[in-house]
Amino acid sequence: MPQTVKGVIARSKGADVELVDIVIPDPGPGEAVVKIEACGVCHTDLHYREGGINDEFPFLLGHEAAGVVESVGEGVTDVAPGNFVILNWRAVCGQCRACAKGKPWYCFATHNASQKMTLEDGTELTPALGIGAFAEKTLVAAGQCTKVDADAEAAAVGLLGCGVMAGFGAAVNTGNVGRGDSIAVIGCGGVGNAAIAGAKVAGATTIIAVDVDDRKLEQAKAFGATHTVNSKSEDAVERIRELTGGNGADVVVEAVGRPETYEQAFYARDLAGTVVLVGVPTPDMEITLPLLEVFGRGGALKSSWYGDCLPSRDFPMLVDLYRQGRFDLDAFVTERIGLGDVEAAFDKMHGGDVLRSVVVL
Ligand SMILES: NC(=O)c1ccc[n+]([C@@H]2O[C@H](COP(=O)([O-])OP(=O)(O)OC[C@H]3O[C@@H](n4cnc5c(N)ncnc54)[C@H](O)[C@@H]3O)[C@@H](O)[C@H]2O)c1
Ligand SMILES: [Zn+2]
Ligand SMILES: [Zn+2]
Repeated sequence: MPQTVKGVIARSKGADVELVDIVIPDPGPGEAVVKIEACGVCHTDLHYREGGINDEFPFLLGHEAAGVVESVGEGVTDVAPGNFVILNWRAVCGQCRACAKGKPWYCFATHNASQKMTLEDGTELTPALGIGAFAEKTLVAAGQCTKVDADAEAAAVGLLGCGVMAGFGAAVNTGNVGRGDSIAVIGCGGVGNAAIAGAKVAGATTIIAVDVDDRKLEQAKAFGATHTVNSKSEDAVERIRELTGGNGADVVVEAVGRPETYEQAFYARDLAGTVVLVGVPTPDMEITLPLLEVFGRGGALKSSWYGDCLPSRDFPMLVDLYRQGRFDLDAFVTERIGLGDVEAAFDKMHGGDVLRSVVVL
């Protein structure tokens, strides 16, 4: 029997989100219904609300979640009712050309539920990143459920489902930052601070945090930044070069998603260094760079989707580091809120007041 539960939708571009009744079908073949315990508010949810991702309104928002599998459809063997899981937006297919090459973290045909969740009048919902977890329950492909230790705190480990994994992986997987490296991270929200925490775990010795908000820079120090730069009052490129012997950083992570910060990242890296763009730009944004500089500086200009993570490999590993006290996921949780508080959480995110507001059910 389809069930009716509460969920948070963005009905049209720019309009305030609404808490409404949504209808969840029974899981079909390869699908699972998950009872959500916690879901973080990510900047990408706001991008959806503002029409910055696509126009497939109405969206069921929320995609950074942990919960318990309630029921599974035919043929599902990897997870079972009662399993505590983190939801992921990279359920790899195993068959596309990336998977066939042994690089499943680039999978081009990731799985989502085939059935649609709807409003009560039958209007089909587009779940954010194929998840839609600002809801009491959601329907996903079973491969989107990654089992982890049941006694891990849902509000903390749910953040691995998007922003924290994206930031950590941008530094460690995509940027390949390692022992003795220097790294600069531009934009120290949930994603940027996770990149800083990842760089610390990986052994980077110079970790430079750049933001326009001093509160974010204070938090960045707690996550492992060795230096901070407020790019409102200082020239970020100059400072990063000064702090790296005049050379620039081995890896620069751009975690804002804007042309001007991308340009800073481009000029703040060392010769043969790596730029990693993890911030998500909007369709109107463009950059112009001197091609000779692109050539002459060598190295790599990379983008990072979801930190090039493989959920089955990376989520349990990060939960282990968390439980050993080596990766402070709790520090990302600024506040716990209810399903009705998502709009207010967007305001706080905009005002820079929070790293993560987490909806707890
Ligand atoms: N690539 C991915 O897979 C992925 C996953 C999750 C989020 N994201 C994206 O990452 C970005 C960051 O997400 P978040 O949740 O951390 O957002 P956030 O709003 O919490 O953080 C953004 C930070 O950037 C800072 N900032 C803004 N303008 C700046 C500037 N000009 N210079 C320096 N710092 C500046 C803000 O003060 C803030 O601290 C967003 O674009 C989001 O959509 C990407
Ligand atoms: Zn694939
Ligand atoms: Zn996200």
